[in-house]
Amino acid sequence: MTESFILAIDTSCDDTSAAVTSGRVVCSNVVASQTQLHKKYGGVFPTVAKQAHRENLEPVIRAALQKAKITWKDLAAIAVTQGPGLAPALEVGIEKAKELALEKNLPLIPVNHIEGHVLSSLALRPPRRSILATSSTEPQLPALAVVVSGGHTEFVLVKKIGEYEVLGKTVDDAAGEALDKFGRMIDLGYPAGPVIEQFAQQGDAQRYPFPLPMTTSGNANLSFSGLKTAARTFTEKMQADHTLTKQEVYDLCASFQYSVFRAITYKLNKLLPPLLLGQPLFGVWLGGGVAANNILRQTIRRTIRPYNLQLSVPYSKKLCIDNAAMIGVVAGYKLERGEVMRGAEIQSVERLPRFEV
Ligand code: KG4
Ligand code: ZN
Repeated sequence: MTESFILAIDTSCDDTSAAVTSGRVVCSNVVASQTQLHKKYGGVFPTVAKQAHRENLEPVIRAALQKAKITWKDLAAIAVTQGPGLAPALEVGIEKAKELALEKNLPLIPVNHIEGHVLSSLALRPPRRSILATSSTEPQLPALAVVVSGGHTEFVLVKKIGEYEVLGKTVDDAAGEALDKFGRMIDLGYPAGPVIEQFAQQGDAQRYPFPLPMTTSGNANLSFSGLKTAARTFTEKMQADHTLTKQEVYDLCASFQYSVFRAITYKLNKLLPPLLLGQPLFGVWLGGGVAANNILRQTIRRTIRPYNLQLSVPYSKKLCIDNAAMIGVVAGYKLERGEVMRGAEIQSVERLPRFEV
């Protein structure tokens, strides 16, 4: 594969990100986090996100090009997240990508953000030498992608790159969202997922048994809102009785995290036997912000081992949380297939806040 540098942009939620990629190789991946801005709201405030994206995007793009040591004339295309995401946030990235594509006379590649998480474990570190073409083999397919983030939790069958089937997804909250909402109940700040992981290490996951949702549904869909409500009722009762001790907070974190992950592995165990009857599977790919969690990784590894399946995770935790490099990886495949927008078509690219993979 020859070098075809892509500048990728993601402004789907509260992180402003730009990256330079070439095929699956990540040359740079710059993320300006807005976490501090949204902390006081206990979640992402869309108009604040939009304003921050407006301020951060240009410097982030400049930094991505600089870190990759390339200039505008080296680029083969510009890629941007089209959706799903927060409409006002998506708009900032899309408008900037369109403007740049037209100004620099480059093709534009709109990308689905979930497809980015699906393919994030295929991203490759840049090799030390200057030529970026790598001898890395293409992944064997089909594979099962498990996307666990703050906005999405789904099982996606990757038939071919670009050809997907959603086998199951959450019918209400996403797993990361449930962790964040639970964290808010016990004042862990935002986002709570990483704090819960840390506190859970010192806690007893069996101390507070929370329910296992969706056991009778018969499909691979997930639900986390019942679990969240059960945890709220239980925690409020405890809080009305006394101020939670440190150990109780640790045990609550461990127990709630365990329950969220058990809901995912329960459905994996339901989904895999019939799936493997119909076709071989060549691996399980984990992506999304919650994929940064080591306990989730261990739990999924343990679940799929009896099926002789290996877990692939992104090479860095920065590729789990929202980032533009994963958008660039998807765009690399689209560029190879010639799926690009040129000239007047570029103006027609609109944000798709509810875009499905
Ligand atoms: O992928 P992401 O950055 O944004 C979405 O596309 O939603 O995921 C953010 C989510 C948040 O809910 C955050 O709490 C969670 O990922 N998260 C984690 C960890 N790191 C981030 N959850 C559990 N353990 C972590 N280490
Ligand atoms: Zn995401």
